[in-house]
Parts: sequence; C-alpha cells; structure tokens
Amino acid sequence: MTAEDRSALEQLIFSKEFIRSGDPGRKTQDIVFDLRTLKAVFESMKKFNIDYLDFPIMSGKESIVFKAYSRKKPIVVKIFKMSTLRFSNLYLYVQGDRRFENEKKDRSRIVYLWTRKEFINLRTARECHIAVPNPIGFHQNIILMQYLGTAASPSPELRKSSIDMEDAYSQVRESMHLLYTKAKLVHADLSEYNMLTYRNKVYMIDFGQSVSIEHPSAQIFLERDARNVCNFFNRKGIKCDVNDLLSFVTGESA
Ligand SMILES: Nc1ncnc2c1ncn2[C@@H]1O[C@H](COP(=O)(O)OP(=O)(O)OP(=O)(O)O)[C@@H](O)[C@H]1O
Ligand SMILES: [Mg+2]
Repeated sequence: MTAEDRSALEQLIFSKEFIRSGDPGRKTQDIVFDLRTLKAVFESMKKFNIDYLDFPIMSGKESIVFKAYSRKKPIVVKIFKMSTLRFSNLYLYVQGDRRFENEKKDRSRIVYLWTRKEFINLRTARECHIAVPNPIGFHQNIILMQYLGTAASPSPELRKSSIDMEDAYSQVRESMHLLYTKAKLVHADLSEYNMLTYRNKVYMIDFGQSVSIEHPSAQIFLERDARNVCNFFNRKGIKCDVNDLLSFVTGESA
C-alpha cells in the first residue's frame, strides 16, 4: 500500500461518516460502513485509479457520496450502505423488471444489483442523450460517475438552484420524454432533490430505483414522478399540469 492509498483509506475510516462515536480508537462495531465496504472502496480505488477522496458531498441513510480525484480529475464515488439500504424497498423496484429477473436476491447481492442497476440505467440514459452524469464504473456497492460542480462546490439540487425555472421545466419535460420513449425507463424517484443544475443544464441523478417501462408498477411510478415535478414547478410559479405532462412524456400528445 502506498502512502497515498493509506491516507485515503484512513481518511475514509476516520471520517465522521464511518464512526458513530467520533473516537477513532473504538472498535469495528462503531463503524457505520462495514469492513466489506471498506475493502470494496479500497479495491475500487485501485481499479479505477482513484488518487484520493476529497470530501463527502452528502451522507444519507442509504448512501454516501464523495467527491474524489481520479487521474487528477474530479469524479463522484457513491457508496451504498450495506446495512441500512432497505431490502423490502429495493425488492419492489428489482422484482418485476425483466432485465434483472433471474438474479439471486439475498441481502448483499441485492445491494450489488442495485448498484449495477444504477450504472446500467445511467448508461442507457446517457446513450439516449439525456443529461445525466456520465457513469464511469461500478464495483460491488460502489458506483463512480462524472462529478457535476466546480472545484469548490458540487452543483446545487434543482430546489436550491437559481436557474431560470421556465427553462428548467422545459428541459425536465424533454428529459422525461426521452427517458420514457427512447431509454424506455421511468426514473421512479424524480423530484427537485434528484436533479442538479450544472452550466444551466438540468441533470437527473439517482437512478438506482429506476425501472423499465414494462415494470408492472411503471405507470404508478411515472405518475408519481410527474406529480412531484408539477408540484415543484407550480410552487415556483410555472404552470405545470400533471396530465399534460404525462401525455407529453409518453408521446401521446404528439
Ligand atoms: N454526479 C454528481 N455530482 C455532484 N453531486 C452529486 C452527484 N451525484 C450526487 N450528488 C450529490 O449527492 C446527493 C445524493 O446523491 P443521490 O441522490 O444519487 O443519492 P441518494 O439520494 O442517497 O440516493 P438513494 O436515495 O438511492 O440512497 C445529491 O443530492 C447531490 O447533492
Ligand atoms: Mg437522491
């Protein structure tokens, strides 16, 4: 292990995100991320030439997102937490998606599958020219992707963005349309929290739960997405009607 590897790993292990007590001397039960994940982080660092982890951008119940550097360029490393990612919730989005039907689905495998699903969904969306972070790779419960933001700060979520909201809405509509008609996917957790604005463009993120349009609950998820989007834009003073949006997205209004 080089000194650089070691410092990155130490930085990770001793960051507050990993240790509940804040006391680095405590034993492994205090580490929020299990050792399997630490090992996976370390393997990913080798596999994808990650120089070091810069800072955690966000730490939620289910994942932690780091800004990192690979070959001197900023990237994002998103790590799904093995223990708190809710199994039953995941199952709902994996079961019924023909692309993942024949996979074994025990606890850790479903988290790995979730990670791979986010990667595949991002890649598919990207191939259909939808504004999403470019996926770089994945390893177990870790996914790497393009970093959206400046050296100093990550791009803001749409809810905190100063982008022109009229323009943002037309971009979101178009992306939802391409996602449905070309990528044949429904995001299934779309909201002002899961869109970032970068250089005046609205990017969709967080595709772990996204499903094929063939999924038995796809329509329900799509309607929920449309309601979230309209609620947000209506609050911002932009006219957004859920039924109009749905027919635009599915291409029925053409
Ligand atoms: N590519 C990116 N570039 C910059 N910031 C990002 C990027 N991806 C994620 N983020 C930041 O991290 C936050 C969390 O990311 P994301 O929504 O993918 O994870 P999450 O909400 O924890 O996902 P899940 O609900 O599946 O656990 C985002 O709201 C955003 O602020
Ligand atoms: Mg999110």
